[in-house]
Amino acid sequence: MSQSFDVLVLGSGIAGLSFALKAAKDGHAVAILTKKTKADSNTNWAQGGIAAVTGPEDDVEKHVQDTLVAGDGLCREKIVREIVRDGPARVQELVDMGLKFSREADGSYDLGREGGHSERRILHVKDMTGKAIEDALLRAISREPRVALYEHLFGIDLITVGKGKQRRLQGLYALDVHDGRVITFRAPVIMLSTGGAGRVYQFTTNPEIATGDGIAMAFRAGVEIRNLEFIQFHPTTLFTADDKRFLISEAVRGEGAVLRNLAGEAFMTRYHHQADLAPRDIVARAIDAEMKQSGAPHVWLDITHRNATYLRKRFPKIYKTCKQLGFDLAKDYLPVVPAAHYTCGGVATNLAGETALPGLYACGEVSCTGLHGANRLASNSLLEAVVVAHRASASVTTYLKRNAKRRSLPIPEWVNLGGTDEDERVVISHNWDELRRAMWDYVGIMRTTKRLERARTRIALLEREIHDYYWNFTVDPELLELRNMATVARLIVACALQRSESRGLHAITDFPQTRKRALDSKVRLS
Ligand code: SIN
Repeated sequence: MSQSFDVLVLGSGIAGLSFALKAAKDGHAVAILTKKTKADSNTNWAQGGIAAVTGPEDDVEKHVQDTLVAGDGLCREKIVREIVRDGPARVQELVDMGLKFSREADGSYDLGREGGHSERRILHVKDMTGKAIEDALLRAISREPRVALYEHLFGIDLITVGKGKQRRLQGLYALDVHDGRVITFRAPVIMLSTGGAGRVYQFTTNPEIATGDGIAMAFRAGVEIRNLEFIQFHPTTLFTADDKRFLISEAVRGEGAVLRNLAGEAFMTRYHHQADLAPRDIVARAIDAEMKQSGAPHVWLDITHRNATYLRKRFPKIYKTCKQLGFDLAKDYLPVVPAAHYTCGGVATNLAGETALPGLYACGEVSCTGLHGANRLASNSLLEAVVVAHRASASVTTYLKRNAKRRSLPIPEWVNLGGTDEDERVVISHNWDELRRAMWDYVGIMRTTKRLERARTRIALLEREIHDYYWNFTVDPELLELRNMATVARLIVACALQRSESRGLHAITDFPQTRKRALDSKVRLS
């Protein structure tokens, strides 16, 4: 069975939906494929907001400098300048679409502050910004007749034809999660907007979908993956007995919350002049150091100087969730720990989301444009998504026009060779747990070459088993996710082992210095 579109979009977060909307308005037939439901995305979970220059005290140069400083020398300055400059116009489009950012009594934006920002510049909808953006985009998509949205369709692999410079994209195999059929989608353009890979780690703020599918798929198609060692650990997630890590937005520290060790000391002043609002890599490492020194399983976050009325209004979701878990934000210190949060590297693209494979685009957390460098500035991710989606839609129109006469070549149908063996399925859950634990233990906030090598050995063993399983049994979503996670884990370690320095989020005790020259790490299928 096969279907044809001008443009396929994988993923239904802010990047995919913004791009799909624009591509459809440009007259293209667009299909959005999402492996779960349309609202299952990282975007939906974003609490903080979108960073853009809108305040009277702020200017583009300040935002650029904050981004460059947080990125620790590895940002592509030209990209940073263009994305920051385009931000306000893209934000205005969201407002025009009906998004209601929180405002002050006088009608001006109620701008939040987060780590590494020298000004208040985070536009937010209380502490549910991502959900508000997702809802607005989905409403707009539902009114767009040129967009077909398919839920529960899992992209397996990209289909390319031709060799060398002639090689181009032809489509994608996708698994219908409900009935196990594999459908061939023909399309000259595919946008990967599948989000990041936080689930590769045992403890993460990310939803279950964040298994690095787009990164793994692009890698298998021979596209360059860049700077994947820069996994951002969010400093403050609620410490609970289970594996779940509920995010306590950095905006809470933006409103004055202070980190304390178990002795009650506000320790961040010892680590950085911006104290609790230092860039995230620094705060996460400071917490890690405090926990290691004292042996404590967490540190405290204290916002008890604010009253319940204020906290309920500004942070309704955080307030309610903490209350349900037995913590009153206005009275109690919260136990917090860092957890994997954001994949700063990814599929190498330019500002228009173009990869080196003609027809393949990537946008959002799956991609690496060079904006984030070695450490993303808080709330710059939603900004990057809307700016790159906008540029990508223009690029796609040009690409489709230029290639309008190109004949689409025959592509092989998917062949299902595998069977099923329920007894063997335990391999999937065991390998899943083992992989995530190994990444947490050996490729975490503080690294050593020895631990990275240990991780590499374990991942290689797991990948061998997964590979056997993949070719011998019928594919299903769990197997596809595990295969992708193992690939991405291998690539994170490979990038980390290329970097013999400490920079941004990559802190390695054997190489504590930062080299003068900042270089990208790169991996590509050989
Ligand atoms: C947060 O609210 O702290 C997360 C926002 C982000 O990751 O940019």
